[in-house]
Amino acid sequence: MLALQATLVERIRARMAERGGALPFLEFMELALYSPGLGYYSNGLRKFGADGDFITAPELTPLFGRSLATHAEAVLRAVPDGDVLEFGAGSGALAIDLLRELEARAALPRHYCILERSAALQQLQREVIGVALPHLVERVRWLDRLPESFKGLMLANEVLDAAPVRRFQWTGNGVREYWVEWQDDGFAWSLRDADDERLVQVVTDLAQGHDWPSGYVSEWDPSLAAWVGSVADSLQQGALLLIDYGSPRSERYHDQRASGSLMCHYRHRAHGNPLILPGLQDITSYVDFTTVAESGTAAGLALEGFSTQAHFLLDCGLDRLLMALEPDGSPRYLAQVQKAKQLLMPGEMGERFKCMALRRGIEGVLPGFRQQDLRGRL
Ligand SMILES: C[S@@+](CC[C@H](N)C(=O)[O-])C[C@H]1O[C@@H](n2cnc3c(N)ncnc32)[C@H](O)[C@@H]1O
Repeated sequence: MLALQATLVERIRARMAERGGALPFLEFMELALYSPGLGYYSNGLRKFGADGDFITAPELTPLFGRSLATHAEAVLRAVPDGDVLEFGAGSGALAIDLLRELEARAALPRHYCILERSAALQQLQREVIGVALPHLVERVRWLDRLPESFKGLMLANEVLDAAPVRRFQWTGNGVREYWVEWQDDGFAWSLRDADDERLVQVVTDLAQGHDWPSGYVSEWDPSLAAWVGSVADSLQQGALLLIDYGSPRSERYHDQRASGSLMCHYRHRAHGNPLILPGLQDITSYVDFTTVAESGTAAGLALEGFSTQAHFLLDCGLDRLLMALEPDGSPRYLAQVQKAKQLLMPGEMGERFKCMALRRGIEGVLPGFRQQDLRGRL
């Protein structure tokens, strides 16, 4: 582990040297997370679950994937011969739970496609899905790029929050960008006047809509709008379901959120320093769901719904699935109840995570958004 970290540090420092001694945080984050073979998501070390660094909803309990199946089933019934395409499938847990539940409901997709950036995680997914669902593995396809034309359900859970971001500071009348350099024996911040024109424009526009104090710090994901746009262009018929940490733009860039939203996870501890433990810790930031909605609708999708994860899962029947488990008071049953609570409680995943669905060319109401409609806040 230490050797891997040391090699990644050397790679990042070599890139810094090529760039005159420092890198914008965006490029540092890209290398720390995705540098081939070494970055956090590329290096093959265990990340998910109790022995890893964090637990995502599908890692926590199959009830998450089983609830999502209600939404998936409705989309697949509306799109004959539709497929599922999951972005960033992590350990493969959601794919397994969804396929199992869709099979039980006689609503299997023609193919379950996975577009995964990390070669190491692709390998893990092939292994675990092959063991868990040997009779369905033929349906699972790993793609190396977005299909030109896709029909069915596209979904991503906790993928957008792992995209590299620019980190900026608003000075009151200008924009500075955070760079990263090597000082003494570790990485350190260095603040420079921003020279990226898009960043300056975006931050200046954001500042005009808010009353930020001087020194306000936040992040901006320069790839988000283009990613949603190209995914929307690919979606010929069906729906795109995105679940992530995040909020509407006005809350994402709220005046009081003055130190930004960067969050790192290392062995189940959350903290705000992305410059330590390169390759060994996850780095995330909040998703701006207003940009997601704008980019999707600009590409011709209709905004189906936006709600908290808790309301989405309840509308998809999580409570009914829970009640259908044998309520025998056994430790196993109580553990399931506890995990369901983690998905739903406002202080846990219930409110910090939001669900957004966009659709094209299908009729009928999609389950997930009948209990709460937050579209007016976007
Ligand atoms: C925080 S993990 C979430 C994993 C899984 N979805 C879950 O909920 O357990 C982020 C996943 O997204 C992948 N990823 C990040 N950016 C991606 C992209 N642009 N396209 C596809 N996968 C991506 C990572 O390699 C990783 O598998």
